[in-house]
Amino acid sequence: MNPRARLLLAMAPFAFCVGWMGGEAPLKTDWTWSFEAGYEAQGFSTNPITPSLQLGSSPVFAPPENGGGLVMNGDLEVLIVAERAADVIDLLPREALTASAWVAIERPQRWGGILSCIQDNGEYEKGFVLGYDDQVFTFGLSTTGTDDGDGRMSYFRGQTAYQPGAWHHVAASFDGKTTRIYVDGKLDFESTLQNGEVLYDLDAPVVIGAYRDKDENYPLDGRLREVRLESRAMSASQVEKEARSRPTLSASEPWTDMEFGYLVEPYLTWPRLDGVSILFESTFPSEGSVGLWRDDSTHGVEIEYEDEAVSGLHEFFIEDLEPNQKYFYQTKIIGLEGEAIESEVLSFRTAATADRAYTFAVIGDTQTNGEVAKRVSDLAYMHRPNFIVHAGDLVDTGSVKRDWTDTFFPSMQPLLGRVPIIPVLGNHEQDAKLYYDYMSLPDPERWYSAVYGNAEFFMIDGNRSLAQQSDQLKWLEGALKKSTATWRFAVLHQPPYTSDSNDYGDTLKETSTRGDMNVRNIVALLEQYGVDVCFSGHVHDYERTFPIRAGKVTPYEEGGVIYVTAAGGGGSLEDFDPTNTWFGHKKSRYHHFVYVAIHGTQLEFQAIDEEGRLFDVLTLNKRGSKR
Ligand SMILES: [Fe+2]
Ligand SMILES: [Fe+2]
Repeated sequence: MNPRARLLLAMAPFAFCVGWMGGEAPLKTDWTWSFEAGYEAQGFSTNPITPSLQLGSSPVFAPPENGGGLVMNGDLEVLIVAERAADVIDLLPREALTASAWVAIERPQRWGGILSCIQDNGEYEKGFVLGYDDQVFTFGLSTTGTDDGDGRMSYFRGQTAYQPGAWHHVAASFDGKTTRIYVDGKLDFESTLQNGEVLYDLDAPVVIGAYRDKDENYPLDGRLREVRLESRAMSASQVEKEARSRPTLSASEPWTDMEFGYLVEPYLTWPRLDGVSILFESTFPSEGSVGLWRDDSTHGVEIEYEDEAVSGLHEFFIEDLEPNQKYFYQTKIIGLEGEAIESEVLSFRTAATADRAYTFAVIGDTQTNGEVAKRVSDLAYMHRPNFIVHAGDLVDTGSVKRDWTDTFFPSMQPLLGRVPIIPVLGNHEQDAKLYYDYMSLPDPERWYSAVYGNAEFFMIDGNRSLAQQSDQLKWLEGALKKSTATWRFAVLHQPPYTSDSNDYGDTLKETSTRGDMNVRNIVALLEQYGVDVCFSGHVHDYERTFPIRAGKVTPYEEGGVIYVTAAGGGGSLEDFDPTNTWFGHKKSRYHHFVYVAIHGTQLEFQAIDEEGRLFDVLTLNKRGSKR
């Protein structure tokens, strides 16, 4: 037993037992942070470092029967070990390390941190981070062996999915040559990509319960029982013993401090003459119901819709209603223990028949910027449009549930509770299952057409092939051919024509294709079947082209199609080609939405920025119709 281990015995007998009980040499545990009923830090250093809870918040511990643990809610500040790695640099592992923890992840997220000392800013990548993503545990590491001058980090992912709310033991080890991730005592990942010594950034903070560097902070939403950082690579058997050492913890039921309620408030998709789709989600499995009644008391109908399945997400396909009619509705969720929560009384209008006047708003690329998206959607709602068209990139990462539940849906309320949406897939949706779960749309959902009033919308998946003979192009041709609508709109995420600066070639230095070449394949069909306007997103700015036909600017009356990029819903703004393009008409670099009002053969079009300022207008008299 070396003197250091003896000191550990006095301070943290448990940590000592891990190595000793198995007959192996005791571990040189450098730091152990325990979060029992109160948290405490233990260390070898003559200057032990105690993490301090920021914001003066009083720590909350989970019930003992669920294994206790310090509750971190994602919004709490992290536990700081050192503001700067420089303050503890002699104590940080270099040649080898093991970072391990007993942790429960309550809500998955894309970048989650458990213990980190990292600076990752573009090409500059140094340090390490034990963390998790929306499915598995992860370990990021930058070493001298792969250093390209400013560090090169590898983000390793384990393979075993963690169970949200349940305790797991996770360990990441590095012995100078091999990096390993262990989950619940079993080897989950191995790589020799990183080698040499750990490369640190002296200004990076050392934190527990977050992935945090100078630019980013992703705090843990979950629980911590213990976090350790050691200056050697634990062996597989040592990790296994550690993971087995707390059987009651491993066996305890998952726990959450989330309360029963609406995870996603009621929202509407796909307006139809005889109904709409109403969706909402509860935090836990529930029975759902929708009560619905007409606002016209002389013809009042009250209908109660019941859900068959018990799950969190409820989707009601409402039908048998009258067109052009306002309805009230109210949703209810009933939890497994009988607790019931009603929504406020909401309302919607069924789709307009072809003889009616109507309006809609086009929003694109709401993405990750909830604040801007909320401003834009609130302004759109102020206009009380009949429905919303979304040009894709609703969220930043389609597979990350929190992007939907915490960013997209909250930022689109109160709009979507009253005004139904018809969206298309952006690249950021990643074709993820969550998109299809959250959207109720005509089959096959990834592409579809929707009729509203005297207009038909051809909703296209620009991420999928539109080449000649592709399924989607064949569908589009068939749908256009049989359309009888006065107004025809194509909607797809990637723009067939754009004056953007660098998405399709760096216009500062080289040539550009001036648009996405896959979606350019639809142009001939749009021209052939008299489409009026094609709406896109993707390039985060606003553009309205001159009408285009056969690769030339052509008057709208002579069949030119107008291309509108309306990608100003929140994503960081992009810029334009420094020189005008042959089709470039109106361009603006504002967050914005587009507002369209149609009555018969007359169309009014406005573009409105996030402050409510009108910056583009257009009126169209449907080509071929009499004035
Ligand atoms: Fe985007
Ligand atoms: Fe995009």
